[in-house]
Amino acid sequence: MNLVTQRMEVPETIDTIEAIQPDLDLFDEIERLKKKLNAVVLAHYYQEPDIQDISDVLGDSLQLAREAQKTDADVIVFAGVHFMAETAKILNPNKKVLLPDLEAGCSLAESCPAPLFRQFKARHPDAIVVSYINCTAEIKALTDIICTSSNAEDIIRQIPKDQKIIFAPDKNLGAYLMKKTGRELILWPGSCIVHEIFNEKKLVGLKVRYPQAEVIAHPECQESILRHADFVGSTKKMLGYSSTSATKQFIVATEPGLIHEMQKNSPEKLFIPAPINDGCACNECPHMRLNTLEKLYLCMKNQAPELTMPESLRLAALKPIERMLEMSK
Ligand code: 13P
Ligand code: SF4
Repeated sequence: MNLVTQRMEVPETIDTIEAIQPDLDLFDEIERLKKKLNAVVLAHYYQEPDIQDISDVLGDSLQLAREAQKTDADVIVFAGVHFMAETAKILNPNKKVLLPDLEAGCSLAESCPAPLFRQFKARHPDAIVVSYINCTAEIKALTDIICTSSNAEDIIRQIPKDQKIIFAPDKNLGAYLMKKTGRELILWPGSCIVHEIFNEKKLVGLKVRYPQAEVIAHPECQESILRHADFVGSTKKMLGYSSTSATKQFIVATEPGLIHEMQKNSPEKLFIPAPINDGCACNECPHMRLNTLEKLYLCMKNQAPELTMPESLRLAALKPIERMLEMSK
């Protein structure tokens, strides 16, 4: 069985070069195309603010997967990264799934190549595999249960205590889950570049400057950052916490795209991006940020790039996603 996702041949012009009339109102055009195509635009919190604002559903990985499962639109436009659009396609084989930029990958997904993971799994034949949704369809096909950062702890707790578990691909999320649940997990050594460039020493300095501020962090961060956090959770949970907490200042340790929605929900509060290592320009996700409003418009206009995959791979990857959705109702 060929477990390699097919990527459609895309004419170069669709990607970036196709001319757009400078006076075209992209917001109006995207709204018009949504109606014409009966399309829904799903966007992750790490997208640029304009894309977040034009989306029909803005959410974290779990919310977007659920939305992809229940939508009655004919076309799903996924403003996120490749593995997210793949998940939408796995759940909707008969719908067209479009991505603004087919090259929008994920360092975490790339840190776990399927041939190496197959060997790793073979070394632990008595373990089941729980994989974070930030992985390729090929890894999902080798997995028993998928999880997201919203439901990972709950899913691990539902697995019998004597059952050995391989957790892939994020070693930081895995280490956090081990601490929270007290379970021993066999970790694949992957990580996300965006969440690994926060600097502990500078974070401590920032806390001294803003003594009232709470640190809120994503569990993809290293333990050296998480140990300073007042709250740890998925993007959606971080957003919820910042809206409901009485605190007025937050140091935010995740991709700064999330701050756009935090600030909209709580205009009176101050959100400070967590400091990063010297030499790093910023901690925007280079994959997420490949998508632009222009590319979003062009992919709807051209109905390409489209995500497709072999049916055998889709069926194999579907099982662990369905298991996750059942276990996190
Ligand atoms: P969540 O939105 O599920 O927290 O995931 C964060 C992330 O890194 C997505 O790529
Ligand atoms: Fe992947 Fe990290 Fe970017 Fe999320 S933020 S898409 S995990 S590289």
